[in-house]
Amino acid sequence: MTDHVIVTDEDSTRVIAMRRPDKKNALTQAMYFAMADAITSAQTDDSIRSIVISGGSGVFTAGNDLEDFAKANTSNSDADRPLAATTFLKALADNEKPLIGAVDGIAVGVGTTMLFHCDYVLASTIATFSTPFIHLGLVPEAASSLLAPRAMGHHRAFSMLVMGRTVSAEEAREAGFVNVVVASGHTEVEARKVAREIGALPKDAVALTRKLLKPPREDIIRRMDEESRHFGERLKSDEARNAFMAFFARKKKA
Ligand code: COA
Repeated sequence: MTDHVIVTDEDSTRVIAMRRPDKKNALTQAMYFAMADAITSAQTDDSIRSIVISGGSGVFTAGNDLEDFAKANTSNSDADRPLAATTFLKALADNEKPLIGAVDGIAVGVGTTMLFHCDYVLASTIATFSTPFIHLGLVPEAASSLLAPRAMGHHRAFSMLVMGRTVSAEEAREAGFVNVVVASGHTEVEARKVAREIGALPKDAVALTRKLLKPPREDIIRRMDEESRHFGERLKSDEARNAFMAFFARKKKA
């Protein structure tokens, strides 16, 4: 249970809202589990036609909580990436309902990689997208090494995932993983409109057509597992430890 994820159902739409503003919506284990549960339980709820993931106004998410990453760095567990994150990522891979991202501000790490599982993404003019795994000594996750090149081509994916470059909302729209750029403060309301539009379409035909557009689920899961093995190893690396320490030292100095 967590207060940092608010789930509401309205107009056949489930809205999953990340609400941890003091930490830029950085995702804790409890938040991953809550979001996974909200996605998974929607699958068998016939009243829900679409799912919106939103960070509210001014932020999407700063990605995985770095304190949790730092704990994983020193833990004795041999596990790949910690269970909470992988549970969420598998819920994304298994999701069969149209998924809409509403991004009003920073989308860092999993904040961006989860969007490659979305079917429609709205970004505000202040949105930025970054996958700084490389700067943390980590590797991509969420099957982004498969889905990002598919969404935007190898070269753009290389600049984001290998070079760790940040892109603006407009650049993301040009790259093809954002559908539309709207004013800040309007992403969630516009996302609800998109959900209603999808909700008015023939349900079974939507589900079938969506599935035809996506890579096979097995390919996505296989890539997630492969990434997760590397990710788990990299989390324990000196490169990662130094990056986590630098982040928290930066805070203390400020
Ligand atoms: N994990 C844990 N805490 C985080 C966080 C994260 N991923 N991102 C931000 N926070 C916390 C900060 O520590 C700070 O907490 P404090 O007020 O208790 O000191 C608070 O959120 C606000 O962040 P701050 O860094 O002061 O805001 P900013 O606007 O200057 O910078 C970011 C925002 C997102 C650019 C910066 O916080 C950042 O780089 N975060 C790390 C992002 C990251 O690497 N995520 C993992 C990707 S794989």
